[in-house]
Amino acid sequence: MKIAIIGSGYVGLTTGACFAEVGHEVLCVDNDQGKVKSLREGLVPFYEPGLEAMIARNVAAGRLRFGESIAEAVESSLALFIAVPTPPREDGSVDLHYVEKVAREIAGVLHEYRVVVDKSTVPVRTGEKVAQTIERYSKQKADFDVVSNPEFLREGSAISDLMNPDRIVIGASSERAIAIMKEIYQPFRTPVLITDVNSAELIKHASNSFLAVKISYINMISQICEASKADVLLVAEGMGLDRRIGRSFLQAGLGWGGSCFPKDVSAFIRIAEELGCDFRLLKEAASINRQQRERFLKKIREEIWLLRDKTIGLLGLAFKNNTDDTRQSVAMALAENFIQEGAVVRAYDPKAMAKAKQALPELHLCSRGEEVAQGADCVVVATEWEEFRELDWLSMKKRMVTPLVFDGRNLLDREKMAAWGFTYRGIGR
Ligand code: UGA
Repeated sequence: MKIAIIGSGYVGLTTGACFAEVGHEVLCVDNDQGKVKSLREGLVPFYEPGLEAMIARNVAAGRLRFGESIAEAVESSLALFIAVPTPPREDGSVDLHYVEKVAREIAGVLHEYRVVVDKSTVPVRTGEKVAQTIERYSKQKADFDVVSNPEFLREGSAISDLMNPDRIVIGASSERAIAIMKEIYQPFRTPVLITDVNSAELIKHASNSFLAVKISYINMISQICEASKADVLLVAEGMGLDRRIGRSFLQAGLGWGGSCFPKDVSAFIRIAEELGCDFRLLKEAASINRQQRERFLKKIREEIWLLRDKTIGLLGLAFKNNTDDTRQSVAMALAENFIQEGAVVRAYDPKAMAKAKQALPELHLCSRGEEVAQGADCVVVATEWEEFRELDWLSMKKRMVTPLVFDGRNLLDREKMAAWGFTYRGIGR
């Protein structure tokens, strides 16, 4: 099928590449000329395992191309996926002006039936607004359907999440649109849930918020573990063995960050409020998330007292492993805190250093993980990169002023660290 993706950011580009991979003919458009030029040259503007190769493969096979024109997208494709940013406003609500602009542009050039699919994360009832906008701005009596098809991929595992999803949600009200959507997703051989548009939109915010609550729940348990000398790893294991609870997203740590959970939780609180519902549970989850970082900082201050003129080795800058994304990264927030309090931060991240340096030029970047330990009063693990486990910790210990390690992700082997002579502080243990 001929598909156009409008917006070649994280979601748009990976979705476009995966649609091409299963045999569809895909045009990814973006209004950023520079980005389109780079994509045509085979350059992907962010790090995602496997994506660059998948794009190259599908471009070479003639199934994937890039452009700037929404008119061309509407002309050439039966299904138009909107995958533009929906950033947060100051008050936490969602800024929908990119979605609205795309809807108007589609309306201006629409002259035969198209399915307009919203992939961006949007508040419930946005589909209704998109449909009204297309109706209002189309020059001829336009024939179209608006569908909600939320995306559940995670950064760092986007390709496998897209190729083997747990579910595909299609919110649509017309049989014609449902048939087209089913055909698009047929190669993925995954359970498809058909709902009305509003429910599909809600599924996305409800899912992300639930996962954020789950993490905040285990983080709160980690606080109780610290106060009662229990071990959150064992508690999480014991809880997770119950199939109704499940083991995933019970990793206690510094809290959730990234471009999705913080934004979506704030948005969902606002959306609920506008609908007359006070989502106190979600407000509390957000508050526990903030606390988690504060408590970690307190723990560091307790050990090394003042941060001023101290050297802190920081392992990890990305908001999670396998990505170069530093948006709303807890690691970056910590680095900023350390610097504000007068510490020197020697940092290393396998992928996110360029983006981190742009946002925080005061960082002293190191070319290897071991180097953050040079002259350090403590080393902090802030991102769950597997490779940090394999660092030469004994040589790091020799370079440190005091052998003190704060593991904000419970990544390292506590017993080994103690045997090597480190004072080790994890989370909830
Ligand atoms: C999240 C959702 O998991 C995706 O399903 C969704 O599609 C995406 O948002 C989105 O809305 O676009 P993502 O933000 O890429 O995906 O990353 P996650 O793997 O969910 O991690 C989010 C944050 O939670 C990270 O900071 C991570 O370190 C933290 N986390 C995750 C924990 O602290 N503990 C855990 O057990 C799991």
